[in-house]
Amino acid sequence: MTRTAVVAGVGPGLGESIARRFVAEGCRVALLARTESYIESLAADLGDAALAVPTDLTRPEEIEAAFEEVRREFGPVDVLVNHASGGAWKGARDVSLDEFERAWRVGARAGLQCSQEALDDMLGGDGDGTGSGDGDGTESGDGGTIVFTGATSSVRGRDGAAAFSSAKFAVRGLAESMAREFGPRGVHVAHVVIDGGIRPPDRAVENPEEYLDPDAIADSYWHLVEQDRSTWTLELDLRPHVEEF
Ligand SMILES: NC(=O)c1ccc[n+]([C@@H]2O[C@H](COP(=O)([O-])OP(=O)(O)OC[C@H]3O[C@@H](n4cnc5c(N)ncnc54)[C@H](OP(=O)(O)O)[C@@H]3O)[C@@H](O)[C@H]2O)c1
Repeated sequence: MTRTAVVAGVGPGLGESIARRFVAEGCRVALLARTESYIESLAADLGDAALAVPTDLTRPEEIEAAFEEVRREFGPVDVLVNHASGGAWKGARDVSLDEFERAWRVGARAGLQCSQEALDDMLGGDGDGTGSGDGDGTESGDGGTIVFTGATSSVRGRDGAAAFSSAKFAVRGLAESMAREFGPRGVHVAHVVIDGGIRPPDRAVENPEEYLDPDAIADSYWHLVEQDRSTWTLELDLRPHVEEF
């Protein structure tokens, strides 16, 4: 089955690993981010199954246009990864209201809007996601999967990161609410708590075992897409084996 996937917020770290894994599994993957040169070069590397869609997720009209382009090029969306986050690394006395709101716009509001767009496709006309299409994933209404990328700060507010932590909590609440609303209608909504640092793509690290391997995280994301309906995950937490928790 060929699925259409959107990764909202693709950079050279985990976003790229997810995109590569999904393409390897036969998906058509739309890459959304602001840095056009990067997503264009990744799309060129991935071939016809990838589409670069330059998008600033804080701008509602750009999200709307991006999903229109994805549908035009690849058809209805089956899988969405709400992946971007933002936030000034400042404490509650220093963060400005604008910075605080921006973190929420990138994470929670964009996550909601991208999900609304994807749900239109996943639920289709009958709105129950049980398969008004022919079952090959090219029609609307076959259900789908929405994954939200979380962090340690999604469950434990981080010292000196008021905007990021509150936005990550908001994303988790959104994911949990949507899972309850849309699970019974055939859409699997999952939240992934990444409890540790992701191994950086651009530099060697002293103790690699202390980091999560982005390709291994991407394996888990693909598993969420493939999970049987009788055993859907709402929240998955991942951490390196050496990490205390
Ligand atoms: N890195 C870590 O150690 C770590 C740890 C735990 C959790 N996480 C979570 O993992 C996710 C990111 O993974 P990653 O760090 O490996 O990053 P990544 O996938 O390499 O890159 C994410 C991309 O999101 C894009 N983005 C940010 N704001 C955007 C906006 N307004 N509009 C469109 N795209 C936007 C950025 O690209 P542009 O600048 O080109 O827009 C960025 O490169 C986040 O949800 C983060 O909270 C990361």
